[in-house]
Amino acid sequence: MEIIAIANQKGGVGKTTTAVNLAASLAAKRKHVLLIDLDPQGNATSGTGLDKNDLELTMADVLLDGVSLSDAIERSPAGFDVIGANKELAGMDVTLMGHTNSHELFKTAVADLVSSQLKSSKDAYDYVIIDCAPSLNLLTINALVATDGVIIPMQCEYYALEGLADLSQTIERLTELNPKLHIRGVVRTLYDARNTLARDVSAELEAHFGDLMYKTLIPRNVRLAEAPAHGLPVIAYERWSKGARAYQKLAAEVIKQSR
Ligand SMILES: Nc1ncnc2c1ncn2[C@@H]1O[C@H](COP(=O)(O)OP(=O)(O)OP(=O)(O)O)[C@@H](O)[C@H]1O
Ligand SMILES: [Mg+2]
Repeated sequence: MEIIAIANQKGGVGKTTTAVNLAASLAAKRKHVLLIDLDPQGNATSGTGLDKNDLELTMADVLLDGVSLSDAIERSPAGFDVIGANKELAGMDVTLMGHTNSHELFKTAVADLVSSQLKSSKDAYDYVIIDCAPSLNLLTINALVATDGVIIPMQCEYYALEGLADLSQTIERLTELNPKLHIRGVVRTLYDARNTLARDVSAELEAHFGDLMYKTLIPRNVRLAEAPAHGLPVIAYERWSKGARAYQKLAAEVIKQSR
């Protein structure tokens, strides 16, 4: 089981779109996938067709009340497993302030999930994909402490480069708590090849990250923006759209890294 966090503290760069569509594309390649929403906005939850305000159990119950991850798993209409989130998760920073090991709650929950899957005859997950909030708060730290690798979606614009130092620093600092933690890859999102600045920033990212850049470019594609309104990953909404094909290519790259 590989745990991958989709993180970037910058807002609106395509984290959720990447988490949902990477999960769906991996599932389409017969991988056993669990998508976990760790953002109180609950976008990944609604993007997979679940009603975020009408869930029996969410990540808030897991992190604040000690409910097990396996009890909170929902089968999404999109065809893979999801653990949802909603605004109940928003108070977590305040609620857990001063709580010892507050940064390890998610890691403990994941360890329990792994051992319960080993005990039962259930198929273990190949991939657990975590959608993080646009912040380096306690929730994101919980994700990074439990994660093997981080995928960073980046929009190729000037400010993208500014936030990068903070995220790299946080990842560096957290390797003390989680020696496995590393950047698995950087994916360029909302990409418009006609835009000169996008091409320049893209080249700068390549110079900085080298092999850590995924070759797949995720284009700006209206189908990717429409699909969540139907509660579907793009692959189920418009299978042959540019966006759907790009995320399938990205999934192939991610699988190749696992070998
Ligand atoms: N490749 C794309 N083409 C077109 N629209 C996109 C693409 N990627 C994302 N979008 C749209 O851009 C907006 C922001 O994307 P998304 O919600 O995935 O970003 P995010 O990083 O998760 O945001 P937040 O930081 O708020 O969690 C959404 O409306 C989404 O539908
Ligand atoms: Mg999001």
